[in-house]
Amino acid sequence: MVYYESLFREMLKGQQLRRPAMKKNEPAFFQRLEQAMDTHREKIRLNVLKPRWDDDVLDLTTSDFLSLSRTGRIREAFLAELARCGDFRLSASGSRVQYGNYEYIVEVEHEIAAFHGADTAWICHSGFYANIGILEAIALPGDAIVFDEFSHASTGVGMKVSLAAHKLSFAHNSPDSLRDVLTSLKKLDSGFTTGEKSILICVESLYSMEGDLCPLKELVAVAKEVFPNGSAQFIVDEAHSNGVIGPNGSGLVQLLGLEKEIAIRVHMCSKALGSTGGVILCNQTVRSALAQYSRCLTYSGAPSVPMVASIRAGYQLLASGQTQKEQNHIQEMVRYFFDSLLDDPIWQEAVDEGLISVPLAEDHEARSVVSHVVPIKVKPGHDFSLFVHLAMANMNAYPMAYPVVPKGTALVRMLFHAHNTKEEVDSIIAAVGEWVEEMLAIERGESKNVLPSAMRKFHALQTANGWS
Ligand SMILES: Cc1ncc(COP(=O)(O)O)c(C=O)c1O
Repeated sequence: MVYYESLFREMLKGQQLRRPAMKKNEPAFFQRLEQAMDTHREKIRLNVLKPRWDDDVLDLTTSDFLSLSRTGRIREAFLAELARCGDFRLSASGSRVQYGNYEYIVEVEHEIAAFHGADTAWICHSGFYANIGILEAIALPGDAIVFDEFSHASTGVGMKVSLAAHKLSFAHNSPDSLRDVLTSLKKLDSGFTTGEKSILICVESLYSMEGDLCPLKELVAVAKEVFPNGSAQFIVDEAHSNGVIGPNGSGLVQLLGLEKEIAIRVHMCSKALGSTGGVILCNQTVRSALAQYSRCLTYSGAPSVPMVASIRAGYQLLASGQTQKEQNHIQEMVRYFFDSLLDDPIWQEAVDEGLISVPLAEDHEARSVVSHVVPIKVKPGHDFSLFVHLAMANMNAYPMAYPVVPKGTALVRMLFHAHNTKEEVDSIIAAVGEWVEEMLAIERGESKNVLPSAMRKFHALQTANGWS
């Protein structure tokens, strides 16, 4: 079975209603859960665990941005690092505030902090936990959390466990909106001005759906303007910029030289680094507060030696400049993609007719750095059709719809990697172009079909295999 068939089979199987097929005597607990998921299945697609694909499928999906995982480079570096660890104990056998604070993890944290120009680094199990642990610990009772409306789910979960009294969003990447929210807090409670209360501002260096960079300098200036006493501080999630943006892949904060302005940075090792885990960069005050107040980070066994060794292996590749070629190649591929689509008459016709849009392509020459996360925006509903078309052309780029992206919007997200080639970019342009031509003909009433060919084939497969 070709990859797209196994993918479709799993996706469709996951959408079959389960509650009506359950026996009456099955425990009410499971019936209730299936009922809840059936409601979801009927309204929108239910998430399913997808089969893994081979390297011959054109990769527009994985987080292996620097290709360190696919090429085996991170595995080699990890095994060499592990060999240097000698007779290590596999388990940390305790949390960081107990037995788990072993010498090797502390040493690697010192190295990572130095690489990032930070006072300290804290390695934890994942970036998701890092974000939860920070918001759990650092916002004190009465404080406020102000977050970009497109913040990651981990920030949302962190806010649920946080003691902050106010949780307010500002419009995506908008300094003006941030100013409005901060000013409203200033009026609401004089404690923010006197320094009795603090504000944590959560942003991401590069947004995982929009693909745009954070205007961090402007946002920092706004926070200083409204609260010159420093009661408003930033948490910058560098999940998508780690390894890909900034000097030696050190991230956006370092690209902009804002190390001293940002209280907390979070780097994720599960993406470009090809490893796993999260790293919290902060000063000693924040580190002590994490140790004191974050149950998420301290009521949990510390990361093991192999995990820390894999993180060190990745960081050594970055620090030694061995990923610079890959970092440059990604920039080149994205710019080639933008130039190609801007030169393609079919794409431009589709943009003019409102069928698709790629806002990041516009004026990309004026930007010194481009993002490797490129959304192709489409009308809601068309995301799935474009995804199916690309999958049948052996390309994997996932569709994103509400609630992952705001209501009334949809996109197909393309993630570019060091292993993507110009020939692959040409084939993406051609494949999207074919879909666009069919869709334009349908929308103009010039086609006898109501669905594009890929969707017709999709439904035929569904019927022939009884997948629905
Ligand atoms: C913006 C952002 N923050 C946090 C995370 C979670 O990181 P991790 O995979 O290390 O748990 C992700 C991963 O998808 C992310 O995209």
